[in-house]
Amino acid sequence: MKRLFISLATLAIFLLFFVSCYYDNEEALYPTLNNACDTINVTYSGTIAPLLNNNCTVCHGGSIPSGGILLTNFTSVQTVASSGLLINALNGNGVQVMPVSGSLSVCKIAQFQIWIRNGMPNN
Ligand code: HEC
Repeated sequence: MKRLFISLATLAIFLLFFVSCYYDNEEALYPTLNNACDTINVTYSGTIAPLLNNNCTVCHGGSIPSGGILLTNFTSVQTVASSGLLINALNGNGVQVMPVSGSLSVCKIAQFQIWIRNGMPNN
């Protein structure tokens, strides 16, 4: 009985050790982000749409958007995002980096990634 207790206790300590070693927080996933970067309250209307309006829609709006990519309404943003093209363009990954004038900050790109990872909600 005592031996059983000891092995159970050892097992529990082992499990605790492994569980506590599992990292899945924002700091571990995005080490270059600092506290000033809001990665919690990321919404379409509060974060993504303003970022697009400030950096992208001057070219990706109107009746003839650059590259045929319209970024002024949720549905077309969601389409570009779910194809992977949005993140590739923000990172200059295989395509011309967007915006053309130079990539957005690490924080802003992370906010796009978080919104996409959250399932691209229209919130
Ligand atoms: C100064 C104008 C301008 C701005 C600002 C701009 N783009 Fe673009 N974008 C273009 C042009 C022009 C193309 C077409 C490039 C090509 O076909 O090589 C393009 C292409 C794209 C594409 C398609 C990439 C491809 O190769 O298929 C995406 C996605 C995109 N832009 C996203 C964005 C996002 C997101 C922003 C803002 C963060 C942005 N763009 C800002 C001009 C702009």
